[in-house]
Amino acid sequence: MTVHFIGAGPGAPDLITLRGRDLIAACPVCLYAGSLVNAEILAHCPPDARIVNTAPMSLDEIAAEFETAHAAGQDVARLHSGDLSVWSALGEQIRRLEALGIAYTVTPGVPAFAAASAALAKELTLPEVAQSVVLTRTSGRASAMPEAETLDAFGRTGATLAVHLSIHVLDKVVAELTPHYGADCPAAVVYRASWPEQRIVHGTLATIEAEIAAQPMERTALILVGKVLDAEEFRDSALYDAGYQRRFRGREPEAS
Ligand SMILES: C[S@@+](CC[C@H](N)C(=O)[O-])C[C@H]1O[C@@H](n2cnc3c(N)ncnc32)[C@H](O)[C@@H]1O
Repeated sequence: MTVHFIGAGPGAPDLITLRGRDLIAACPVCLYAGSLVNAEILAHCPPDARIVNTAPMSLDEIAAEFETAHAAGQDVARLHSGDLSVWSALGEQIRRLEALGIAYTVTPGVPAFAAASAALAKELTLPEVAQSVVLTRTSGRASAMPEAETLDAFGRTGATLAVHLSIHVLDKVVAELTPHYGADCPAAVVYRASWPEQRIVHGTLATIEAEIAAQPMERTALILVGKVLDAEEFRDSALYDAGYQRRFRGREPEAS
């Protein structure tokens, strides 16, 4: 018996990997994080599957579900929104499974920041503008931020920032970043990227608060800040440079 952790993607039910879909179809038990996972994905479960929304459950209750399925020899599909590498509670569940001696696998999913950049049709790294993307958040009720991981510190780098779980403190995000990026730095908020109700709000650090105040949105929104969002004067990458291709094509596996 195995627990299969599966990244269920940002919302659109077809933004799940084929592997994830096939695992869901093969598991007689499905536990899903109902606050963000699109229930349409549950259509892949077998007809008689036990399907449990874990949104209102404690970690102990979720672990009890794992144990019950283990005792019955039934594989479990465990669905979390986006990808499992960030803010998924994967770490604590794996710790429980290891203590219980239960096997597990992890299948990645499309993270929210990728769905948001797709919605904006923007590359988040551009030559000589920004070459790093910081996936971060601000302190919440459940999780304080480690001392050094401040927006102020990340802002000093000039990297593109994808600020999660923070639309309710947009004013603080703007105040911390403006000294580093400038008030005219482009900012965008993508609400429920890839869902039918997706909304995109464009602005700058000076205007984005007023833009959001005019069309309020709660939770499930990603704040993107960085010069890449409106950069036009960036040079072409070396990747498709004719001279570079003649010299290096086929030799450098990092090109995608
Ligand atoms: C608990 S985190 C989950 C992140 C997820 N594991 C991922 O891979 O993106 C939830 C936060 O991710 C962002 N988020 C998740 N889905 C989103 C979506 N479809 N559109 C915009 N932001 C989203 C929001 O900032 C939300 O507050």
